[in-house]
Amino acid sequence: MDSVARCIEMGATDHLPKPFEPVLLHARINASLATKRLHEQQELSHKQMEEYSRQLESRVLEQTKQLRESYESLRRTQEETVFALSSLVEIRDPYTAGHQKHVSQLACAIASEMGLPENQIEGIRVAGILHDIGKVCVPAEILSKPGRISEIEFAVISTHPQVGYDILKTVEFPWPIAQIVFQHHEKLDGTGYPIGASSDKILLEAKILSVADVVEAIAYHRPYRPALGTATAMEEVSKKSGVHFQPEAVAACMAVFQEKDFVFE
Ligand SMILES: [Fe+2]
Repeated sequence: MDSVARCIEMGATDHLPKPFEPVLLHARINASLATKRLHEQQELSHKQMEEYSRQLESRVLEQTKQLRESYESLRRTQEETVFALSSLVEIRDPYTAGHQKHVSQLACAIASEMGLPENQIEGIRVAGILHDIGKVCVPAEILSKPGRISEIEFAVISTHPQVGYDILKTVEFPWPIAQIVFQHHEKLDGTGYPIGASSDKILLEAKILSVADVVEAIAYHRPYRPALGTATAMEEVSKKSGVHFQPEAVAACMAVFQEKDFVFE
């Protein structure tokens, strides 16, 4: 191996034979300087890219944090608004105070037992808390009347799903809350109210809410009778399974009480 090849092998990047030829020497020096400048520029660009990437990453993190905070704040506002709306009807009707919260809890437990997705359960929770909001338009003396109510009084009470729908229809929830509230007294066989919708027209959420609503109403104290307990409530609802109530929701409700030891909070 000659000396030039050995030098290249040992790490030399170029070779200039002696005696030096001035023109060649000048050209090689210029070439070396150009290569050095190129390396320096590449290094600078690399550093700038790294810095830009760091800034970008920190901006994305900051904006994600702000978005998360805005989302949390919106969610809290929505939650507080839902509870404020819910308390409107309960302030006027102490007998049903806590009813909407109870119905919401039981409906969520039924939905969970049926294996519904989290987001749908969340919609049921909100609809449950608000389902009787339309009772704000029913005189308090009818709502808390001890003893049987007249036909006219029942007609007044039966407006509450429509009133609830009208109150909620312009609120942009991520779930069909107004529609669920509108349908919570509908029955599978079309004998419910306000429109007597049949099974295939009733939302699953409303079917679940309807079971929870009736179970809670029978189980707890009402102005016109004492509390009857969950066993009696389940017995009553089971008799109407497939007629008024969706069988899957009734079965899930049964499982919630018998296997999951559900209790109203
Ligand atoms: Fe209702």
